[in-house]
Amino acid sequence: MRDPGRVAILISGRGSNMKALVEQAQGYEVVLVASNKPLAPGLEWARAAGLPTWALDGKGVDKQEFDRLLSAALHDHQVGTIALAGFMRILSPWFVDQWRGRIVNIHPSLLPKYQGLDTHVRALSAGDAVSGCSVHLVTEELDAGEVLGSAEVPIEPDDTPESLEQRVLAAEHQLYPKVLGEFVHK
Ligand code: GAR
Repeated sequence: MRDPGRVAILISGRGSNMKALVEQAQGYEVVLVASNKPLAPGLEWARAAGLPTWALDGKGVDKQEFDRLLSAALHDHQVGTIALAGFMRILSPWFVDQWRGRIVNIHPSLLPKYQGLDTHVRALSAGDAVSGCSVHLVTEELDAGEVLGSAEVPIEPDDTPESLEQRVLAAEHQLYPKVLGEFVHK
């Protein structure tokens, strides 16, 4: 059985949640940062922090092949837990099955509300008084796995999608390291 405390973080972009997971790591070790975007700004930060990285451009690679190569890289680094942090690529059912129960994700809404994209626009359009973020297990169904933890933030009357995003993001940076630390010890 793999050590659940050996964590890989998967990113596609700026990687602010990755940074929070690395800087606030308690009870787990980040052993790999992987991306489907070789130019993701977060990868540069990871390299500068001395973390091993892996990247393969998801465009133009067969989906099954990408997931097979990613899975092999994770095995090479003896990864026990995979933390998706702004990884904007849907993992295949094959991959999810290979790593069943070992993949977590952070999502910028109070799940089960607003699965998928544009969560802040949707929360504002609905006139919600609160929003937030959720950490959940990844299953074959998008953003529908068991919720492991969530945090609420208020929605202010003059909020824009951008101002709400910033408030939710700050909550994400608090929530994710805490929930991941608890998860790897379960
Ligand atoms: C975060 O807000 C995360 O919750 C969201 O993307 C952002 C990534 O920011 N994830 C999703 O929407 C997943 N469906 P980051 O790269 O700065 O961590």
